[in-house]
Amino acid sequence: MSEKKRWSKSTIIFGGTAIWGLLLVGCVMVDRTVIMPPNIAGATYVGTKKCDECHKDQTGHFEGATHSRLALKDPKVGDIGCEACHGPGSVHSKSGGSKGTIVNPNTSPETCFTCHLDKRGEFNLPHAHPVLAGKMGCNDCHNPHKGHVVARSGAELESPNETCTKCHTAQKGPFLFKHNAMTEGCTACHNPHGTVNQKMLISRDANLCLKCHLEHPAVAGDGTIMAGGQDHRTRLQSGTCWIAGCHEDVHGSNASKAMRY
Ligand code: HEC
Ligand code: HEC
Ligand code: HEC
Ligand code: HEC
Ligand code: HEC
Ligand code: HEC
Ligand code: HEC
Repeated sequence: MSEKKRWSKSTIIFGGTAIWGLLLVGCVMVDRTVIMPPNIAGATYVGTKKCDECHKDQTGHFEGATHSRLALKDPKVGDIGCEACHGPGSVHSKSGGSKGTIVNPNTSPETCFTCHLDKRGEFNLPHAHPVLAGKMGCNDCHNPHKGHVVARSGAELESPNETCTKCHTAQKGPFLFKHNAMTEGCTACHNPHGTVNQKMLISRDANLCLKCHLEHPAVAGDGTIMAGGQDHRTRLQSGTCWIAGCHEDVHGSNASKAMRY
């Protein structure tokens, strides 16, 4: 997937010792991506150990967090993982934590964009969560301090779908007639960062559904479009699979196995 490709790019950018060089220089062009770590006037890096003196809640589980693997190092103070997102912390630490001395990415995604530049573009698409408007933050869906930064199934406390259903309760269920697509996660059909399609759908037409439901025709090349054991050729001419009268209850239904109202 193209997303994976973007990853290997940023991994190269932040790999090994290169990262310290980046932080030191402040702004460098690598692979046509500009990286600018948060800057705080007059402040220098003090290291994660320093933060631990006052912020056990955040440092306590940080070792297992995705971003701790970045292993940003300053030769003088060692690990500076916290400051990669919060900016250099000397002024903040000396003042005992006074206001306005440290970056808090809670309401502004700018810190995250310094490294995840492509995400600014996704949030600028016509249908996106209102992160750029400041109505929600990356941290509504990503936990920067603990565990995997993207909720996964398995040992994670929060399942991927719970990340979404804590706000979108209507999609939570339980439904009498489940749609098993939901076990693949909301991202089987939506890109929560943003898309060009209504409702942040990853595809605006029947392809959204046919990627899982297209079946082999009984006779190869007979022109049928088989889904759910039925030929959908004429049906698909009336619109998307989820228009009124068809499968409008795509998340699950209490009325019909075929996901209709
Ligand atoms: C001497 C104690 C102390 C040290 C050391 C310290 N902090 Fe703080 N920090 C505080 C206090 C006190 C607050 C204010 C807490 C509050 O308002 O509830 C705070 C607040 C914060 C906030 C929230 C700021 C806001 O505007 O909402 C962040 C982020 C933060 N610290 C990060 C760090 C990081 C990163 C480090 C290490 C580089 C660090 N702190 C080191 C005491 C400290
Ligand atoms: C990947 C970026 C990232 C890293 C790395 C990171 N933080 Fe944060 N931090 C955030 C975001 C986003 C918020 C705002 C949301 C929240 O409160 O969880 C935040 C909030 C905070 C707050 C304020 C909490 C509050 O209740 O207001 C403190 C204190 C803090 N971080 C300390 C730390 C410390 C200490 C470390 C290192 C162990 C660290 N952070 C590493 C992104 C990060
Ligand atoms: C200093 C650069 C940097 C900053 C700042 C930063 N990240 Fe990251 N982030 C990375 C790197 C590098 C990885 C890949 C880590 C890995 O795979 O081990 C990553 C991984 C992630 C992932 C997981 C990707 C995956 O496929 O599993 C998410 C989600 C993420 N970051 C969100 C955020 C958010 C939200 C913020 C702001 C609060 C943020 N990041 C700030 C560099 C950064
Ligand atoms: C509405 C929830 C939501 C918000 C808000 C959100 N994300 Fe995500 N993000 C997700 C989900 C869910 C995934 C996992 C996608 C997948 O596995 O298919 C993800 C994946 C990622 C990834 C790794 C995969 C990729 O697409 O590169 C990064 C990096 C990331 N998010 C960064 C961010 C940043 C930065 C912000 C804020 C500017 C942000 N996200 C805001 C839900 C969200
Ligand atoms: C913190 C609350 C919150 C979380 C968490 C959240 N959303 Fe949203 N979602 C919103 C808000 C706010 C809107 C914008 C509603 C509007 O613009 O009227 C929205 C809009 C949407 C829409 C478009 C609805 C429409 O009518 O156009 C979809 C689809 C959606 N979210 C899916 C998701 C998915 C998938 C996740 C999990 C990856 C998620 N949301 C997580 C708050 C949240
Ligand atoms: C099988 C594909 C699929 C999956 C999986 C899926 N959705 Fe949707 N979702 C859709 C379609 C299609 C629409 C558009 C429905 C419409 O426009 O009538 C939609 C619309 C929405 C809306 C807008 C609600 C409205 O009334 O217009 C929200 C919010 C939403 N989805 C959230 C979620 C959440 C949260 C999850 C995961 C728990 C999820 N979706 C999983 C296909 C899916
Ligand atoms: C990620 C894969 C996936 C996607 C995408 C998906 N589905 Fe499904 N769907 C399933 C699975 C798995 C089942 C349960 C097994 C089955 O009946 O084929 C199912 C069952 C159904 C059923 C019930 C069939 C029956 O007779 O029990 C309907 C109707 C349905 N899906 C409609 C849709 C529509 C409409 C869309 C597009 C909005 C869609 N699906 C997208 C995986 C998916």
